[in-house]
Amino acid sequence: MPLAIVVGGFFGDEGKGKVAGYLGYTDKPGIAVRCGSINAGHTVVYNNRVWKLRIVPSFFLSWRTRLLIASGALIRLDVLFREIEETGVRGRLFVDKHTGVIEDRHVEMEKSDEFLSKVIGSTLQGVGAAMVDRVLRRLRLAKDVKELSDLIVDVALEVNEALDRGELVYIEGVQGTFLSLYHGTYPYVTSRDTTASAFLSEVGVGPKRVDHVIVVFKSYVTRVGGGPLENELSLEEAQKMGLLEVATVTGRVRRVAPFNIGLAKRAVMLNSATQIAITRLDALFKEDRCVREWSKLSLNARRWIEELENILKVPLTLIGTGEDILCMVDRREELGFGWRR
Ligand code: IMP
Ligand code: MG
Repeated sequence: MPLAIVVGGFFGDEGKGKVAGYLGYTDKPGIAVRCGSINAGHTVVYNNRVWKLRIVPSFFLSWRTRLLIASGALIRLDVLFREIEETGVRGRLFVDKHTGVIEDRHVEMEKSDEFLSKVIGSTLQGVGAAMVDRVLRRLRLAKDVKELSDLIVDVALEVNEALDRGELVYIEGVQGTFLSLYHGTYPYVTSRDTTASAFLSEVGVGPKRVDHVIVVFKSYVTRVGGGPLENELSLEEAQKMGLLEVATVTGRVRRVAPFNIGLAKRAVMLNSATQIAITRLDALFKEDRCVREWSKLSLNARRWIEELENILKVPLTLIGTGEDILCMVDRREELGFGWRR
């Protein structure tokens, strides 16, 4: 059974929570590992319930899945414990001994001008400041926090052993390729690399162990905070087209632009995408709302997808058609990517 990773192809908020929620529900992986930190909000909607998750893996819906937080991730105790209750995953969620712990002083540090937080439009969650402390080798790690003592495990060892046993493992990347500290629109970026390789490193698995890199795009591009956004639409245009969104963590209105092929090609390259998931197809083709079969999609929607597939040269295996995780066209079996059976 494979190792698969889900990453964002644009500037975050592509709908990774929805895709991960669906994959968790249908594939029932043995393990799912969350990377990154609490600046990244992932939304999972299932059966009229909405979870806005900042640290618990969005793959949580199957009770069979063991949920882990990566060594390279950063948690906040209050956020972690609150979400464990909200999702009811106590007893199957564990934290790596080297996961970093954000404290109130990190949030304070980010308010100083030195952090350029205003210019960049930081989410002000203390993540960047905690990364600074990590580099200065003075960050508190999970293994040294009493409240976490019952949750501490060796995530790298667990993941590698699960793969040796042939279990399915998912890694949940966060944010998006162009917010990467290395490959993004510097300095308008976040405080970590956000490409697939970086998340493998956060977990502790080598590149040869990955079977599937699922890059998630939305049918249009959004960005919160500062930095370039090609072909940006005015607020009015975005609203008229039904593309206005509010950010999960900060509640800010997201900036909007049409789907960007150039960025998508580059994201495919930077992540070695093997599959693409596209979300919010229903935003472009309203008649396709919550359609779940390829053959039932409108002709225009199918043409749009096929054209994209031809340009990007990567199979578009998962197509989101609504908020609920089950509003999904899953073409994996049909395209030869099935591993359930
Ligand atoms: P920070 O990492 O919170 O300091 O934010 C740096 C930049 O990345 C800002 O423009 C944020 O709006 C953006 N950003 C950080 N995390 C996310 C995310 O999960 N989704 C979308 N944008 C994000
Ligand atoms: Mg988000």
